[in-house]
Amino acid sequence: MCGIVGYIGHREAYPIVIKGLKRLEYRGYDSAGVMLYDGTDLKISKTKGKVSDLEARSQQEITTNGTIGMGHTRWATHGVPNDVNSHPHLSNSGNLAIIHNGIIENYEPLKKELIKRGYTFTSDTDTEVLVNLIEDVQKKDGLKLGKAVQVALNQVVGAYAICVFDKNKPDEIVVARLGSPLAIGVGESEYFIASDASPFIEYTSNAIYLEDEEMAIVRLHKPLKIRKIKDDSLVDPYVQELQMNLEQIEKGGYDHFMLKEIYEQPNVIKDTYRGRLHASTGLIQMAGVEDNLEKFLNADRILIIACGTSWHAGLVAEYIIEEFARIPVEVEYASEFRYRNPIITPKDVVIAISQSGETADTLAAIKLAKEKGAFVFGVCNVVGSSISRETNGGAYTHAGPEIGVASTKAFTTQITVLTMIALRLAKAKGTLSNSDYFRYLQELELIPEKVAEALHSNTISKEIAEIYKDASNCLYLGRGYNFPVALEGALKLKEISYIHAEGYPAAEMKHGPIALIDEKMPVVVIAPKQGHYDKIVSNIQEIKSRSGKIIAIVTKGDVQVKELADHVIEIPETSDALSPLITTIPLQLLSYHIAVLRGCNVDQPRNLAKSVTVE
Ligand code: AGP
Ligand code: GLU
Repeated sequence: MCGIVGYIGHREAYPIVIKGLKRLEYRGYDSAGVMLYDGTDLKISKTKGKVSDLEARSQQEITTNGTIGMGHTRWATHGVPNDVNSHPHLSNSGNLAIIHNGIIENYEPLKKELIKRGYTFTSDTDTEVLVNLIEDVQKKDGLKLGKAVQVALNQVVGAYAICVFDKNKPDEIVVARLGSPLAIGVGESEYFIASDASPFIEYTSNAIYLEDEEMAIVRLHKPLKIRKIKDDSLVDPYVQELQMNLEQIEKGGYDHFMLKEIYEQPNVIKDTYRGRLHASTGLIQMAGVEDNLEKFLNADRILIIACGTSWHAGLVAEYIIEEFARIPVEVEYASEFRYRNPIITPKDVVIAISQSGETADTLAAIKLAKEKGAFVFGVCNVVGSSISRETNGGAYTHAGPEIGVASTKAFTTQITVLTMIALRLAKAKGTLSNSDYFRYLQELELIPEKVAEALHSNTISKEIAEIYKDASNCLYLGRGYNFPVALEGALKLKEISYIHAEGYPAAEMKHGPIALIDEKMPVVVIAPKQGHYDKIVSNIQEIKSRSGKIIAIVTKGDVQVKELADHVIEIPETSDALSPLITTIPLQLLSYHIAVLRGCNVDQPRNLAKSVTVE
């Protein structure tokens, strides 16, 4: 999720931590905080806003001397961005301080248990629960910090990269990771800790990257000991000599943020259903949906409003919600909806989808829908954003900050949230058989590994991009669930490579667009085995007979389309309804490589902004 910096050594910690947080700003965040040990006590300063706000505030609030410190930039998942919810968080005794990237899925039952034992909480975060769980273990079992952290983490379900400090043991910082990155910079009589190497690369190029389920006690003048959290077994530290420069580190070694975010999709889809999807028990837990379930179930219709890629996710949701829950769904561009005096009744439920949570057209459409009495549910990626605050309820995607202007991981995590909503409604209405319901849950749980497999199409996508990078136009065709994916694939290509591209329902070709087909027209056809396969094969034949160049997205092992298409990109099989989560992957990669080959500014395409906060 966001940024962590720690330092223990012979230098003043404060400037290293603050500068390190600035180095991590590229990751996006909503608040920041710092902890320092000044030789007698630990001091913290934290604030909603920017690192520069923290710098100004901390220099007023705390003494900034000391050679041990840690800092955090937050990307909120539990608890809106405000000063209290910012990190570091202290345990009840004030002895322990923690900074955390990730999500503690089972924080609610843990919190309930700690409250029973007399613990109190000042914030709404999952992180504050963890630091008090560590303190509780420490007190109950009389353990040192390292052991207490280990015992506590074995009770935790979720994702974390943490730094924990105990003012009663001020010569060490305990670190651990599961699902969120953590690097340790090894210097001369000093250690650096960070989410990536950018905060310490200027001090040392020797880095140890913790693996999942590993922890370490970073102690001055002591060799680093890394242990497995589960069984306490020792792990040999592997110190690597970093060759990357700062820019490469920020992009995780990828050439562009867009490519990094494409490759983050397996993890962020998992983060998005983490703690919400329980395929073995058939439970879907989304507080925003549960609290408003009757509104959804009694709705005359669900109206989805959004812009751009989010609108495409809405179109996918239309097919899924109608198929699973049999509730009528309409999808509208927010920019059209807000000006056409739409007919809205209190029996309507509106779902507003927005990655940034700040899109002006979507915000205006929400206000209009609310004025007309509708219940509005938000699907956003930014906690505490304007749209998330304007809507009556909602569910966040946990995609983490999306830096590239072209939306990729937001699209797949939006579909993940919307699919879970559709399944929850179907279960309540009994519109899916028990076997189908469980089958979809299990399939959804497997999507991250299928997305990871689909990412292997990167090589073939790049080869195809080499052939078509100079095309003037391109058509994208899909049917059913994959018609919106065709629209999304076309949008990706045009917004980053500036090639004109259109997405169309494949069956619509004969109503005009087929006149466009000739040997100069590349046509991307989404043709997975499930979903009107025979029909799409006929469309491919129509295109081939007019010399169109066919790039087909097919299910692994496909034979029939392979014989017809000029190029095929294979993806793993999944059900028709969940296929957009997979079929979109090669389209993202294809547009990325074409844009790079055309020398375009992939992360900041011309004329575009990441968040369109104006009309
Ligand atoms: C998609 O790649 C574009 N960046 C754009 O269409 C975007 O999806 C649209 O502006 C909506 O943004 P939002 O999801 O933040 O509301
Ligand atoms: N889940 C924690 C919170 O919401 C950490 C979020 C992050 O990764 O920055 O405060």
